[in-house]
Amino acid sequence: MRITMIGTGYVGLVSGACFADFGHRVTCVDKDAGKIAALHRGEIPIFEPGLDELVAANVKAGRLDFTTDLTAPVGEADAVFIAVGTPSRRGDGHADLSYVYAAAKEIAAALQGFTVVVTKSTVPVGTGDEVERLIRETNPAADVAVASNPEFLREGAAIRDFKFPDRIVIGTADERARKVLGEIYRPLSLNQGPLMYTARRTAELIKYAANAFLATKITFINEIADLAEKVGADVQDVARGIGMDNRIGPKFLHAGPGFGGSCFPKDTRALVKIGLDYEAPLRIVEAVMAVNDNRKRAMARKVSAALGGNMRGKTVAVLGLTFKPDTDDMREAPSIPLVTSLTDMGAKVKAFDPAGMDHAKSELPDITYCEDAYDCAKGADALVIVTEWVQFRALDLSRLKAAMAQPIVVDLRNIYRPAEMAEHGFSYHSVGRGDA
Ligand code: UDX
Repeated sequence: MRITMIGTGYVGLVSGACFADFGHRVTCVDKDAGKIAALHRGEIPIFEPGLDELVAANVKAGRLDFTTDLTAPVGEADAVFIAVGTPSRRGDGHADLSYVYAAAKEIAAALQGFTVVVTKSTVPVGTGDEVERLIRETNPAADVAVASNPEFLREGAAIRDFKFPDRIVIGTADERARKVLGEIYRPLSLNQGPLMYTARRTAELIKYAANAFLATKITFINEIADLAEKVGADVQDVARGIGMDNRIGPKFLHAGPGFGGSCFPKDTRALVKIGLDYEAPLRIVEAVMAVNDNRKRAMARKVSAALGGNMRGKTVAVLGLTFKPDTDDMREAPSIPLVTSLTDMGAKVKAFDPAGMDHAKSELPDITYCEDAYDCAKGADALVIVTEWVQFRALDLSRLKAAMAQPIVVDLRNIYRPAEMAEHGFSYHSVGRGDA
């Protein structure tokens, strides 16, 4: 199959490289000439484990290339995927669809022969209808079907998620489009794979419902963690105990500083807006957003409490700034409001992150950036683990303690055992383990 991918952001680049790896012929298009030039030089603009090798191998095999001009690759394509950004619109929280619609119009003008246009970007319910209308208005003669094929990729695990998906959702009623997309995903569906065909609007809603449900699961366990601290219970055992029930499942029950990232905050916000527009308010999701927002500053108060309630003049070391490990992504990272609160309270903040410091510097310009975890801990009155990078899971605790001014650790990801930390002489505070 010939595939054209519009947008070489996170989703576009990972999906394009994986499709090429399945054996399809893929062209990735981006308006940003600098990005395309970098890709031609073999430079990958995002941090994703394994992506550079995957791109290089498929470019070498002649299955993957990059361009700024969509005309020829759209004309030749069996399927054109729209994978441009849909950021939250400033002011009202709706998804900003201007990039999607601009891409649809440009694609329309370049279509030749039967082509499936597929929205992969996360878009509000009904966007597929508007994309189809725009294409038909721009090019009435086009032989086109518009489908929705949402992605469920986690940053840091995107290639694995693409190649071993729990399901692939294909939203279109058009039989020819179902055939083309079925063929594109055939490598994943040879053994009755997880392909699910549905209506286009249903596919669009599945994406939002999935992300909102996962965000709800996280927020639920975070509130249970707060209660566990008060009643002297262990939230990790509670999560295990409820997760063994197949109806609940063990994943996304890890208590922490609240969810962040490029998807959950934006998608919960957009879903709430869609619910209000259609007079079907999603009150649970509204509560999830509010609880999650409050949580980040509450984590700063937790640090302050660990330091006896007075932060003025204290030095706080922060380990991990990205919203999760294995990414350099700082979008909506809990570290941003957390660090801002700490500095508001009068603390001096030092920080270290294995990959996110370049991006962090624009968000948090007034803190000190360090070489590694021990350099960060040097002279600190408290050390806060914000992101559970593997580098922080097996720190030399004696060395850490020797470096610090006071042996206080606030572990917001529960990566250490309270007993072990006590043995090393730390005053140790974690999330939902009855020891705050
Ligand atoms: C998410 C979805 O998982 C993915 O399917 C969708 O397509 C895009 O959004 P991503 O944002 O990359 O992926 O990261 P994810 O691993 O889901 O984590 C999101 C946030 O939730 C992170 O801040 C993470 O720390 C937090 N989280 C996750 C928890 O606090 N506890 C958990 O148990 C799981």
